Amino acid sequence: MGAKFFSSIKWRFIVIYFLLVMAVMAIIGGFIVNRLEDAQLEKVKLDVEETLNSIVNSSTYLTDGNWDESKERIQNTLNEWRFGSEEAVYVIGNGEVPRITASSVNTRDLITGENALTYKELSPKLVLAALEGESTSALREDPGTGARYYHYVMPVRSQDGTVHGVFYMIVNLMMIYSVIEDAQIILTYATVIALIITSILGYFLAQSITGPIHDVTKQAREMAGGNFNQRVVVKSDDEIGQLGSMFNFLTTELEETIGRMDTERSKLETIFSYMAEGVIAVDRRGHLIHANPVAREILDLGEEEMSEDKYWDLKKLNILGINYFEKSSLSGTSQIEIKEGFYNVRYAPYKNEFGGDIGIIVVLQDITQEHNLDILRKDFVANVGHELKTPITTIKSYTETLMSANMERSTALRFLEIINRESDRMNRLVTDLLQLSNMDAKRTRWEIKSLDPYDAVTTAMESVQPLIKEKHHRVILDIPEDVRPFLGDSHGTNQVILNILSNAAKYTSYGGKITVKAKNFGSRVHIEVEDTGIGIPKRDLERIFERFYRVEKGRSRAKGGTGLGLAIAKDVMESMDGRIRIRSEFGVGTTVLLSFPMDKEAL
Ligand SMILES: Nc1ncnc2c1ncn2[C@@H]1O[C@H](COP(=O)(O)OP(=O)(O)OP(=O)(O)O)[C@@H](O)[C@H]1O
Ligand SMILES: [Mg+2]
Repeated sequence: MGAKFFSSIKWRFIVIYFLLVMAVMAIIGGFIVNRLEDAQLEKVKLDVEETLNSIVNSSTYLTDGNWDESKERIQNTLNEWRFGSEEAVYVIGNGEVPRITASSVNTRDLITGENALTYKELSPKLVLAALEGESTSALREDPGTGARYYHYVMPVRSQDGTVHGVFYMIVNLMMIYSVIEDAQIILTYATVIALIITSILGYFLAQSITGPIHDVTKQAREMAGGNFNQRVVVKSDDEIGQLGSMFNFLTTELEETIGRMDTERSKLETIFSYMAEGVIAVDRRGHLIHANPVAREILDLGEEEMSEDKYWDLKKLNILGINYFEKSSLSGTSQIEIKEGFYNVRYAPYKNEFGGDIGIIVVLQDITQEHNLDILRKDFVANVGHELKTPITTIKSYTETLMSANMERSTALRFLEIINRESDRMNRLVTDLLQLSNMDAKRTRWEIKSLDPYDAVTTAMESVQPLIKEKHHRVILDIPEDVRPFLGDSHGTNQVILNILSNAAKYTSYGGKITVKAKNFGSRVHIEVEDTGIGIPKRDLERIFERFYRVEKGRSRAKGGTGLGLAIAKDVMESMDGRIRIRSEFGVGTTVLLSFPMDKEAL
């Protein structure tokens, strides 16, 4: 209620109705009262005229003789006529001074002979007009009591037309006005009753209109809050009923549309959340308005970056020269390195429904793996080239010397030995590469069978024996009887153990100790090769299995290594369901652990 009620349609309805009815009643009331007053006055006039005419016509002496002489008769006639208390008749003679000749009032004796023009009860204007021969009337009001009177004058003429005198009649209009007053009171009552009825009817009429509107408003409010379950109750088929039906229809449509949009959005959201690429959206003011989990992870986006008014520079993604007035600048690609990851950046504008560009969507595709593989491939080619170039250069220079100069046989033989050694080196390198390439292509066929640990170690040891001898290493074999056979390919296993033993011998300075242990370990058999060599620095340890990786390139190559041994060992072990691990402490020694699946069937 309160201010709200007074500004409501209901209130306006009531007020307009009220004023309308009041105006109509006032006009009708005024009209009726006026008409009533006129009719009453007309009647009074006719009565008065008739009365006076009757008197004059019934008394012929009035038109004949001198009125002064027939004073008595006139007075008698008036007396006989018996006027009511509201009426008074004065007879005024037309002398030099018009004097009251006779009168119907009680005080007639006192006023007879008075000058009619100065007698306060009479209107001198009317008297003069009548003396001129004119019948007129006038309404006069007693200023003291407020009572109203009807004054009427009638000249009485003789046969020759001269005015003999005047009949002056006064009628108290009290009765008439009390009737009019009663009519006014009745009309006022009627107006009040009509206004009350109007107000009540207006209220209900307004209610019947505003009720449904109120319902619709309420439902609209509910809808704005996301509740679409409400329906307007339609009670009629009129305009308001149609409004309600239309609104219900609108609600259903809107609910369906919003439902569809929700589904679309949730689909998109799921795609965004689970896609492998990072996606962000930046609006034209540079605010980050969307970022999926992958993008948040890649770009390290916290709540702060995602906040409404934080400027987020696209330059961070190598996206430069964005100009929202130039369409071609809004899409393109770039690449970027973030935290050791490499990303392809693709961007394009997104548009609002009016077709204006309102921002940019950026997709970050993780190409770290491809990138690293690419580097690996390039490095690999460079490494192969480099590894082949050194022996070829050596072979070529020694061959040229041999061809160009005469030299002693012993020198020539030494040269040829060098050429032979370098050829072997090249041969080994090519063989290694071919083996790796075969394993990459899964072309290598393994023949998995039961192998004895002691045999496997001693077979490999035979090939390394010359180097061990040369370097005066001490070898300790710790292979107990109860160590179980394991499963593996004999050639592959030999190649792996050989490389590990030769590494141990190569990278341990003169007079070192090499310990080879074998033991059962659950369902597996472990072979460990421990040396007291130069060790491997921690930072190199994780890359030691990469192709061509050597700790100190110069020194390792000098020892005849190509850096493919461990890479091959790892590939071979893995393809035989085995594992290889390296522990090392720089300057102290290295332990390589080989783990094979145990042969459970063999005794
Ligand atoms: N037992 C070890 N002690 C110290 N360093 C080692 C040991 N084993 C391997 N390394 C280091 O790891 C590198 C890689 O070894 P890997 O066997 O793959 O290559 P290589 O021995 O140099 O060459 P290849 O085995 O092809 O003849 C070596 O160059 C060496 O620097
Ligand atoms: Mg080696």
